[in-house]
Amino acid sequence: MAKPKVLVTRRVPESGIQKLREVADVDLWDEDQPIPRDVLLQKVRDIDGIFCLLTERINDELLDAAPKLRVVSNMAVGFDNIDVAACTRRGLPVGNTPGVLTETTADLAFALLMAGARRISEGERYVRAGKWTTWGPLLLMGPDIYGATLGIVGIGRIGQAMARRAKGFDMRVLYHDTQAPPGLDEKLGVTGVDFDRLLEESDFISIHTPLLPSTRHLFSTAQFKKMRPTAVLVNSARGPIIDQRALYEALRDGEIGYAALDVTDPEPIPMDDPLLTLENCLIVPHIGSASVATRNRMSSMAADNLIAGLRGEPLPNTVNPEVRAPKV
Ligand code: DGY
Repeated sequence: MAKPKVLVTRRVPESGIQKLREVADVDLWDEDQPIPRDVLLQKVRDIDGIFCLLTERINDELLDAAPKLRVVSNMAVGFDNIDVAACTRRGLPVGNTPGVLTETTADLAFALLMAGARRISEGERYVRAGKWTTWGPLLLMGPDIYGATLGIVGIGRIGQAMARRAKGFDMRVLYHDTQAPPGLDEKLGVTGVDFDRLLEESDFISIHTPLLPSTRHLFSTAQFKKMRPTAVLVNSARGPIIDQRALYEALRDGEIGYAALDVTDPEPIPMDDPLLTLENCLIVPHIGSASVATRNRMSSMAADNLIAGLRGEPLPNTVNPEVRAPKV
């Protein structure tokens, strides 16, 4: 019997590709840049499964072009690139990769927090520019991290991992989340508060909520005005949660102290974005989950989801469990 055909939309860690090759004919877009949309729409015409990334929009246009498609597997925990409702309507299970990237992403978020507080990227630019002429008693001072207050917006898996790290630095941890699991405050030594209180009392704010219609531009002018003028804002979730123009103005005008971003809106950030002109803004290219081990696990997990879908079995990790893949 002919093997099912799957498309992998980027060069990804081999762990997943090896698994897929055992059961499917793999069409691999063996590049480091995303597959052009027109090529993608062409390639999906006869595939049974797609292994995609957050750079591919999986919407009605793509699904219309892929009449044989039986399963969508996203190599990411976030799935805002996928129209899940459209997939569900068509009976297509959608897989994602939760859990395996929690600690790695929290590591990066905490690194951004520390880099923002201690002005690491400014310091590095200063040295490379040949400006380091003496030890400076006033040079590149920033806030302390230990003992400060961290506000976590969204206390899911990654938010909780961030809270555990903060506890190691004797931080007071506030969080805002309308769906926090019961007993969390006692378990982690954290305090749930309303959003305004979190904005007003936090020295550091770290965003760990998914991008939803309700979280788009959750941080805009009104929120920045409530924050401390020294506050450091960390975003390792999704760029559009912050109104980026308002962030630029808040950083420029000293409404807040610093932003350390792993995600932007759009991605990549255009080189003429005014944020890139600011010293008090650090931006890295969406590398939250980018450890070797974690990316290998994500690739493998995405392959497991895809293979289960091709076999008509429930996906080990799915965002629309109401869909059962049709038996093959
Ligand atoms: C995700 O998984 O959603 C990240 O943004 C990429 O690792």
